[in-house]
Amino acid sequence: MTPTPVSARRCGLAEAADLGRTPVDVTAVLDHLVAQADTAAPTSVGFPGAVDLDHREVMARLGHRLWNNIGDPTDVGGTAHTRVLEQAVIAWLADTLAMPADDRWGYVTTGGTEGNLSALHTARRRLPTARIYYSTAAHYSIPKIIDMLGARGVAVEAGVDGEMDYAHLAVRVRRHRRWPAIVVATAGTTMTEAVDDTTRIHTILNEHQVPGRHVHVDAALSGIPLALDGRLRLDDDSGVGSIAVSGHKFLGVPTPCGVVLIRDSLRRQAAPVAYTATLDSTITGSRCGLAAALLWHAIATHGREGHRWRVSEARRLATYTVDQLTAAGWPAWRHPHAFTVVLATPPPAVRAKWLLATDADISHLICMPGVTQGQIDAFVTDLTDTTTPAGDPDPGDPHLPRPIPRPRRAPAPAAGIGTP
Ligand SMILES: Cc1ncc(COP(=O)(O)O)c(C=O)c1O
Repeated sequence: MTPTPVSARRCGLAEAADLGRTPVDVTAVLDHLVAQADTAAPTSVGFPGAVDLDHREVMARLGHRLWNNIGDPTDVGGTAHTRVLEQAVIAWLADTLAMPADDRWGYVTTGGTEGNLSALHTARRRLPTARIYYSTAAHYSIPKIIDMLGARGVAVEAGVDGEMDYAHLAVRVRRHRRWPAIVVATAGTTMTEAVDDTTRIHTILNEHQVPGRHVHVDAALSGIPLALDGRLRLDDDSGVGSIAVSGHKFLGVPTPCGVVLIRDSLRRQAAPVAYTATLDSTITGSRCGLAAALLWHAIATHGREGHRWRVSEARRLATYTVDQLTAAGWPAWRHPHAFTVVLATPPPAVRAKWLLATDADISHLICMPGVTQGQIDAFVTDLTDTTTPAGDPDPGDPHLPRPIPRPRRAPAPAAGIGTP
């Protein structure tokens, strides 16, 4: 007798996908996953994945086989790899960041986290006794990486707008001035999209005459937009040694990935691996060639001007969002360069429907390219419908927004990062 297939429609997804039960109704499980993601998409505005680019051509042409860019992107051996596309991506991003052509190296990573790891590993090999400074608004991967490297981390406070507190950095550097300094600046902090000013960081390191330095920029979200603006530069004057960006954020690549760029002169020669005939210069050995092809396609099909237009449309919608929330009496603000709108945390009923990112009294939504004005209008309507009491407002009503911490000064346009 043929056993009845387990249907994901009739029972829970986990039960349907349980490989201990045979046969598994594979089609039903995949249908269920797609339907779940499709249903959630219109209200998922809290995390920074662009949804306006069409990657189907690459997925259809390359998605059915393994593309392994094992080793260094400049390695030439093997066949089923996309290293030539990877090198084109590296060159495009390095050019956009004005990185000197004779002093650049990079590769396509699994994401911003691996980029940070690769850059900080490189910096620490050159400066093994360095203290690694990072702000409390830095991504959680930074203290984790410091721990993995067995390095000494020094946490620096951040302001309510998310930018590093430079006065506190100066206090911390003064205390550890006998040691070289590796400083992680963030271009686009996770909660508020704040941008740390590398010029001010260098001034502080100069004042305390630290014996060696490396400034790394974690630019997972904002690296490409700010580079397209010309506001984020890795030229000779910048003093920036490395940068990491994510590929699934601004470029919306449908698999987690990223790019790390490091000044070539700051690296040590990588060891050759005989049996793969490659250089062991990357964190992982096997590397996803499909991700490199997807990044290349996203860049090739839009060019710098196309991507600049995407940036300005996303910022226009973010401005609109702040205006709509403010008009509705809901506290909200954004940095002038940001896609991220910081707002007072909505009540649970709204958060149950809308996927925001929340940290206590503060939440954010991100107007990534592809988010529409219709979605923003629907969100503001849900918020006001839930929080506008019928009759006279009761000041003790828990649905009313509480004031949120705001930057002391008006958030300034990101300027100075990577400029002398
Ligand atoms: C500032 C920052 N750095 C690093 C990361 C990690 O990026 P990934 O998820 O690509 O590893 C993120 C992700 O949100 C981030 O916001």
